[in-house]
Order: sequence, then structure tokens, then C-alpha cells
Amino acid sequence: MSSVNTKIRLRDLRKSFAVYGRPVPVLREVEFHAREGELVGVIGPSGCGKSTLLNVIAGLEQPDGGTVELDGRPAPDRLGMVGYMQQKDLLMPWRSVLDNVVLGLEIAGVRRNEARRRARDLVDVFGLSGYEEQYPNTLSGGMRQRAAFLRTVLVERDVMLLDEPFGALDALTRTQMQEWLLGLWEMLGKTIVMVTHDVDEALLLSDRVYVLTPRPGTVKAVVEVGLPRPRYYGMITEPRFNDLKQQLVAHLHPAHLHQAHLHQAHLHQEGRPMSQEVLR
Ligand SMILES: Nc1ncnc2c1ncn2[C@@H]1O[C@H](COP(=O)(O)OP(=O)(O)OP(=O)(O)O)[C@@H](O)[C@H]1O
Ligand SMILES: [Mg+2]
Repeated sequence: MSSVNTKIRLRDLRKSFAVYGRPVPVLREVEFHAREGELVGVIGPSGCGKSTLLNVIAGLEQPDGGTVELDGRPAPDRLGMVGYMQQKDLLMPWRSVLDNVVLGLEIAGVRRNEARRRARDLVDVFGLSGYEEQYPNTLSGGMRQRAAFLRTVLVERDVMLLDEPFGALDALTRTQMQEWLLGLWEMLGKTIVMVTHDVDEALLLSDRVYVLTPRPGTVKAVVEVGLPRPRYYGMITEPRFNDLKQQLVAHLHPAHLHQAHLHQAHLHQEGRPMSQEVLR
């Protein structure tokens, strides 16, 4: 049963694509839910169907089987009901930053002047002040992501889907953006589904992490992240974080961990202490 505050629920979701006329299953029997105001992470190997999953939730793709429920009701016509920041930022090089940011509002029928007014109110929070009339090619990677994110936020949906929002960024910028997103999420109170391939990022940000198998992707494990909020980057060095990380890595790379145990046994045989590196 869906309780009232379940924003998204997927039941027995299946999706195949035709490749040379033959169906290739990409998602199978996916069970998933996100409650109101939660940030839910999705992690899994490349090609396992994470972006396809978000496309299905957004309504850009229809599943072959199973249901997508929003706010406790099946939502077959859900296109436009959720905000979606796709894997590529899709900023148009010929539009200024501000004109890119208001694109979603314009598509929703808001007049350009009104859309620009709303965007200007948030430009500062998104660290884009002074760049409104610049073109996307003059922005850093982090700024491009924030611009794409602002475009998604302006459309004002309760649910936001983020597909590897920081995937293209260097480690330092990524860390800053994670903290920034944490702050913003606490401010906005949205329900967020975030795809990532980064274990630390998934745990630091999420209330719950879904681990998918290789294609066809299905839910292999669900890790509840009970870390207190507000969260801060330094948490990633705490023992409780490390415990969760070991759980998540064991689901993601079982063979790898098996190797590590063999290595560990080998080292013990030789009477040497085990190196931390072995467990990574
Ligand atoms: N429209 C499509 N037609 C045919 N195959 C598709 C289509 N979209 C996705 N696929 C295939 O479905 C599989 C899953 O793709 P998807 O983009 O969902 O993976 P992903 O988990 O997001 O990968 P990554 O981590 O690399 O972004 C891939 O094998 C991909 O080639
Ligand atoms: Mg993807």
C-alpha cells in the first residue's frame, strides 16, 4: 500500500529496448519508493539502466510492465510533473546563462520577463551572479551544473530527478557542490532522486541508496543511511560512515571484496599487518 507521503513508487517495473529488432531488457522487476522530502540515491554499474529509470519516472519513456505512482496514484501521463536534470547539462550555447535558466519556465508558458524576474531572485543562491548575460562556454563546469540545476529548480516541482549531477566535475569542485546541494535541499524541502556512481556521494547525501545490478538492472540492495542531518563533508571520515561504505561496496563489487579477503588471508599468512588499501 502507498501511504500518503510516498511521492514516488515503482512496482515491478520492466523496460526493454529493441536492438536490431530484438528486445534487450534494460530494467526488470524494479521496486522503488521515495517519501516526501527524502533524498534517495541510485547507484549501479555503467549501462545498468539508471538513466532509463529516471526517464521512465519523468515520463519520457513508458515502461513495458509495472507501474509508476506519484503521490500514491498511478501516473500514466506524468510528463512535466517532475523536474529533471539530465545526465548532460543540455545548456544551449547560443543562449545567455539567464536565457538558458528560464527555458523550462518558458516551455511551461511563463512569459520571458516574468521568468527572468523569478530567475534573478535565485541567481545569487546558485553562485551565478554577474554571469547572467554570459554564454555557457564562459562558465566553469561547476557553474554549468548550477545553471542547469537552477533551470530545473525554477520549474517548481515537488520531485526532482538528478542524473549524475556532479559526474563531470573535478574532486574538489564536486565536494563543494555536494555540500551546496545538501544546503539547498534542506532549504527547498524537495523530494530528490539522484543517480550517482560515487559511493561517498551517495552515502553523504542520501536517506536511502538503491544498488542496481548490471543490465538488466534490478534492485540488488537497499541501504538505509541513518546518518544524522544536517550532514557535512567531514562525516566521510567517521567510523559509522565507513561501516555504511563497506556495506555498499560489498553490494557493488562483491568479486573485488572477495579478492581483498584472499589478499588479506595471504598477508596474515605471511605475518604482516593488513593494509587499509586492500579493502578499498
Ligand atoms: N533509446 C534507447 N534505445 C536502445 N537502447 C537504449 C536506449 N536508451 C538506453 N539504451 C541502452 O540501455 C542500457 C542502459 O542505458 P542507461 O543510459 O539507462 O544506463 P546508465 O546506467 O545510465 O549508464 P551510465 O552510468 O553509463 O550513464 C544501455 O545498454 C543503453 O545502450
Ligand atoms: Mg546514465
